[in-house]
Amino acid sequence: MIDVENSGMRTKAIHGGEAILKTLGHHSAPICQTSTYSFKNVKDAANAFTDCGEGKYHPAHIYARLSHDNGWIIEEKMALLEGGESAIAYNSGMGAISGVVMGLLKTGDHILHSPSLYGGTHSFLYHTCKQFGITAQSVDLNDSKELNKAIKQKTKMIYIETPSNPTLAIFDIEKIAKIAHKKGILVVVDNTFMTPILQKPLSLGADIVIHSATKYISGHGDVVAGVVVSNRDLIEKIRPNTIELGAYIPPFSAWLLSRGVKTLSLRMKQHCENAMIIAKYLEKHELVESVIYPGLPSFPQYKLAKKQMLDFGGMISFNLKGGLESAELFLNSLNLFTLAVSLGSVDSLAESPALMTHSVIPKEDREAAGIPDGLIRLSVGIEDVDDLISDLEHAFTKVKESQK
Ligand SMILES: Cc1ncc(COP(=O)(O)O)c(C=O)c1O
Repeated sequence: MIDVENSGMRTKAIHGGEAILKTLGHHSAPICQTSTYSFKNVKDAANAFTDCGEGKYHPAHIYARLSHDNGWIIEEKMALLEGGESAIAYNSGMGAISGVVMGLLKTGDHILHSPSLYGGTHSFLYHTCKQFGITAQSVDLNDSKELNKAIKQKTKMIYIETPSNPTLAIFDIEKIAKIAHKKGILVVVDNTFMTPILQKPLSLGADIVIHSATKYISGHGDVVAGVVVSNRDLIEKIRPNTIELGAYIPPFSAWLLSRGVKTLSLRMKQHCENAMIIAKYLEKHELVESVIYPGLPSFPQYKLAKKQMLDFGGMISFNLKGGLESAELFLNSLNLFTLAVSLGSVDSLAESPALMTHSVIPKEDREAAGIPDGLIRLSVGIEDVDDLISDLEHAFTKVKESQK
């Protein structure tokens, strides 16, 4: 008999968590769109509530904010894919991030994090966490000397986004985890850009993996969701806060994730293939100042990328000559690439970090962080790559004409 736990990544994504469906006679999962669950009698109801109380939640379905079958299916799939013991699914990536931090830290604790973070994560650490007396500090996590210097008695968590957004800077998970664990510090990795197909943080020594499942895990740009994977103990520590914060995933979102993740491996292969071709095309283009893609030998951390990642992903940033004006014209001239934030969908997206996602950061700080005015971020989809290149070429031609 095939054991899904020891199967390949595609088998895990397709069959993981689905054994329950066979017992119910379903081929594919129904959406369990119910807010509450009924009991046959008071004894069963009372049993379901045993252990259920402040800080504890019984693992039987009682109410959809606590658990449901659609949640359990995607949680098992993600735990299998990331190589963790357990998982919790959330109503957003931010729900997942706040669930982990609020579930594991307390007033007085300190977090060290990689210098560039998704904006929402940055605001959560410096706004919400600050309100609760949890402090955060940025440090170059690849610089062991700096990292050791920054670790304080009260440092309880190192938060890594790798590759980070939009500079694609990479942080050495294995090296950081070794330093952190000597001091009893938890290592959390946001694996959104890579997915478990391209990077396995838990096997590199991380304690917890977070996903904005809104991106590649769903893959179709039609749901906002998050997932956390870890060992059983940490997940059970995080679960009560998740439920009390009202951050558990709704059934339809969980159903969409379970459906989307089945093709994750195939999609990631095509995202990587298309992105590599486009990165090479961009690198040769006369209107491009520089290309940031971890799969190019010109990428400053190419060696680390090859060591840590199984492939290089679908995200590319490039610096267009001509600054903001050219970036605006370029983006307005694209047809197939949609002008939008977010990433990881089957279709291609493009945005200007300076005018959109990172516009709140003062220009000087933004430029110091490697985000110049002309930077364009592409989330390369799985369309025919020749069509994507024709679209980019058309936009470059418009910019060139404007510069005459
Ligand atoms: C790397 C990363 N982490 C977390 C998040 C937050 O996820 P969500 O938008 O699903 O709440 C995002 C959103 O763009 C992201 O890019």
